[in-house]
Amino acid sequence: MKYVYVHWKHEKAEEPSHLWYEIADDKFQNRTIEFYADGSVGFAVRSEATDGSDDLEIGGTTNSTEGFPDVEEINSDKEFEALEITAAEFDQQWRKALASRRHMTRLLTIAIDGPAGAGKGTLARRLADHYRLNLLDTGLTYRAVAYALIQHALPLDNVSAAETAARQVDLAKLDRSVLSAHAVGEAASKVAVFPTVRRILVEKQRAFATTPPGAVLDGRDIGTVVCPDADIKLYVTASAEVRARRRLAEIESIGGTADFTEILADIVRRDERDMGRADSPLKPAADAHLLDTSEMAIEAAFLAAMAIIDDVLAKRDKA
Ligand code: C5P
Repeated sequence: MKYVYVHWKHEKAEEPSHLWYEIADDKFQNRTIEFYADGSVGFAVRSEATDGSDDLEIGGTTNSTEGFPDVEEINSDKEFEALEITAAEFDQQWRKALASRRHMTRLLTIAIDGPAGAGKGTLARRLADHYRLNLLDTGLTYRAVAYALIQHALPLDNVSAAETAARQVDLAKLDRSVLSAHAVGEAASKVAVFPTVRRILVEKQRAFATTPPGAVLDGRDIGTVVCPDADIKLYVTASAEVRARRRLAEIESIGGTADFTEILADIVRRDERDMGRADSPLKPAADAHLLDTSEMAIEAAFLAAMAIIDDVLAKRDKA
């Protein structure tokens, strides 16, 4: 019986990103691949790293008398997540790790754009989980600027205050619970028209995108402006009616009430503002894959996106 652990770790933002797979059998014979920030890859069998270092601390070594930590023990440390899988899956995981080594030695950037309520946020989260990438909902950065102005009772067209707020945005501290309010989204689309505010936020978003191992970013201008060289660009859309119906169902599911016609009018107004602005309007990049989720459940959209991404990764491996 083999015990297989696959775990990974993203260091704090200021430290290099570091992803690792560790596979150990019950004699603590480990096979490990480590991915470093500079794109280099460490490879170790039985805890002897090829560079001569012996820096593996978890899982013990061939000489170790220490037991391998429990999955629960690893999972209780929030820096790790672990899976225990069957012996039959051992080699499959190892092959996956080898494939990832090829993928991950190069940054992977997935750009997702689309209007509010098309399902791009959920899709972005699923893809980031699946491909073990960093995740940034860039809408939150515009919301953070709007929220700061609202908090200081400043008008939303005070450009210099908006610029100051944009400079203070810390991507590691975006609080969705505060920023997700409907009114903040409306206000965000007003401050998002200012080119200087956009420039400040885009710079932060680009720095995030180029942090290994890469990222999924979702927003309105990711494929066109923030990451024009993204490996994969998706444009996720749905009819305004479908988006309004989804929003209404969401509100009702948490016991709220709302008027469909008003929600629809809100959505149409936001679309017009986002698509009609002069700087970085919402539109699909020329090389974006279109995903219309009007008639599609999120699971189907996820599978369709995965097929596109896996195809790109397979071509990249051959190149
Ligand atoms: O996606 P979300 O609804 O959180 O975005 C709020 C607003 O922020 C959008 O309506 C849009 O005006 C603006 N935004 C943007 N560019 C992005 C992301 C969001 O202009 N990349």
